[in-house]
Amino acid sequence: MRLSTIRVGDILLPNNVFLAPLAGYTNYAFRRLCKEYGAGLCFSEMVSAKGLKYGNENTEDLLYTDEEEGLTAVQIFGNDPEIMRMACENEKLAPFPIVDINMGCPVPKIYKNGEGSALLENPKLAEEIVKACVKSGKTITVKFRIGVSADKLITKEFAKRMEGAGASMLTIHGRTKDKVYAGEVNYDEIASAKSAVGIPVIANGGVFSNEDAKRLMQNTGADGVMVARASLFDPQLFCDLTGKERENKYTSFCKQMQWTRAHADEKFTTVFMRKMAAFYVKGERGAAAYKDRLFSCKTPEEVLEIAKEIWGEKK
Ligand SMILES: Cc1cc2nc3c(=O)[nH]c(=O)nc-3n(C[C@H](O)[C@H](O)[C@H](O)COP(=O)(O)O)c2cc1C
Repeated sequence: MRLSTIRVGDILLPNNVFLAPLAGYTNYAFRRLCKEYGAGLCFSEMVSAKGLKYGNENTEDLLYTDEEEGLTAVQIFGNDPEIMRMACENEKLAPFPIVDINMGCPVPKIYKNGEGSALLENPKLAEEIVKACVKSGKTITVKFRIGVSADKLITKEFAKRMEGAGASMLTIHGRTKDKVYAGEVNYDEIASAKSAVGIPVIANGGVFSNEDAKRLMQNTGADGVMVARASLFDPQLFCDLTGKERENKYTSFCKQMQWTRAHADEKFTTVFMRKMAAFYVKGERGAAAYKDRLFSCKTPEEVLEIAKEIWGEKK
């Protein structure tokens, strides 16, 4: 993977390997872990602009961060330019200098609402949203897909519009909305957008190894890569991608547990860390039995006990 610093608006990022927004996962603890393993920028889970407007408590939970985590991007979704601008200006977003706009989410509820990937079919509105958000003074970035379906690819035109509207960086997921997360990544579409704009373009889709990252960079000419699902199985993939040394898995798990506890109650911590351990154990001998035991844990300590048994301090 060819590493380089990357400038997004006025902000200089240490490298070009990013952690994707992942609803239900990229909370404070997980982002901090990936950052420690080398990620140059981490994105929050998507947060509803309307939820922010109405002070929805769940929305506020998603926005926990602190100085130790440092520079982080928040992702918002919505379809009303004014509400999106207000979200950018909301004091809850004050710790996040970069606001990413979700224009790729395929989830039916979001799409039917005219949000997420629905904006790919409404480029005029997408443009208005970016223009309105830019007025907030935040650094605005956009994450989008190459189209809703293979017969409606919009990548290059859409990228140009987003740049024209004031976006400082684009992340392009090289799959169509109807493919959700399956299928090949279309390198050519990402490449066509990259050569049409002057702002940084980050390629996303299918990075599960250093080789995948190299191929994605080479075939798209992108300025960097964004890793999503692979990080859930192995946050230390960022070490491989950025040339850092890996650490013991139990040590890593303990850190994530400690940082999750810093922002969540015992119940959330137990359920979340059970779920994470079930990801991390994939491929280990006896994984199915460990998963069964993990899902019956009632406290963080019980989860830690099993993690210690799986990975131990010495491995
Ligand atoms: C569980 C899950 C949650 C996701 N949540 C978001 C999200 O909140 N915002 C977003 O832009 N993309 C979201 N995505 C899409 C990913 O960021 C990424 O674009 C996609 O998974 C492709 O990258 P990958 O092949 O490396 O997984 C999500 C994907 C998954 C699997």
